[in-house]
Amino acid sequence: MQIIKTVKELRPIIQGWRREGLSVGLVPTMGYLHAGHKSLIVKAVSENDRVVVSDFVNPTQFGANEDLSTYPRDLERDAAVCEEAGAALIFHPEPEEMYFPDNCTFVDMDSLTKGLCGKTRPTHFRGVCTVVSKLFHIVTPDRAYFGQKDAQQLAVIRRMVRDLNFGISIVGCPIVREPDGLAMSSRNAYLNAEERKAALILHKSLAIGEKMLGDGERDAAKVREAIEKSLGTEPLAKVDYVELVDAETLEPVGRVERPILAALAVYIGKTRLIDNFTFAENAGCDKGETGCI
Ligand code: PAF
Repeated sequence: MQIIKTVKELRPIIQGWRREGLSVGLVPTMGYLHAGHKSLIVKAVSENDRVVVSDFVNPTQFGANEDLSTYPRDLERDAAVCEEAGAALIFHPEPEEMYFPDNCTFVDMDSLTKGLCGKTRPTHFRGVCTVVSKLFHIVTPDRAYFGQKDAQQLAVIRRMVRDLNFGISIVGCPIVREPDGLAMSSRNAYLNAEERKAALILHKSLAIGEKMLGDGERDAAKVREAIEKSLGTEPLAKVDYVELVDAETLEPVGRVERPILAALAVYIGKTRLIDNFTFAENAGCDKGETGCI
């Protein structure tokens, strides 16, 4: 498996694969790979002849007071994960390789990005859309793989690919959880032992909402309030948001009558964690344990 740092080196490799008629999958990541990332790579390897994993902590998606400088990084470990999962190549550019000093072109979106995480991270999705577009242009994949844990990001990227005619299939893959239910995230590395225990309240509270929906409750406010009440029992948890939104438009719903996304963001100490589940009347809850959606 190769580690490539520049676009100039990467392009001829991809062109060579194309000449051989090989299909290409892309798994965009910010590194510090965990089992959730590995599941994306394994899925990509099963569906493509060659898989590129991008490993780039993208500065444009971090706000001024966010954790860009402290975001965990470990290329050696990432390389071992990618190799084991069967990736052909890691693309690991420096920020200067991805952004010219006078870069002034961004990809932005009018809807989908204002609510949920966009409320407290107003420039985040502009950074995500910009870097993902750049990666799509650089790698030119047939398919790209994203985790359902970042449900808003997945919906935003699907819409961007549709609106800008990228012609790339976006494959959403389920949340991978620790045995005790905590959704895997590179940011879990920030939690101390007490916070790690407290973080279980996210999954526990969502499970209460899932059960209410499964039992037939359709009033979104009641489900939201029950989730918030449960989160309120954990002293280390500070709620950023709890929302029930239309799974496609991400607009808040009053009643649960079409597929919805129940999503939350909660600070545990200084660490902001997100988690979610989707619910469709006939399909029930997708607990995100198996398969791909
Ligand atoms: O989900 C992530 O890790 C990032 O937002 C992504 C998609 C790699 C873009 O930097």
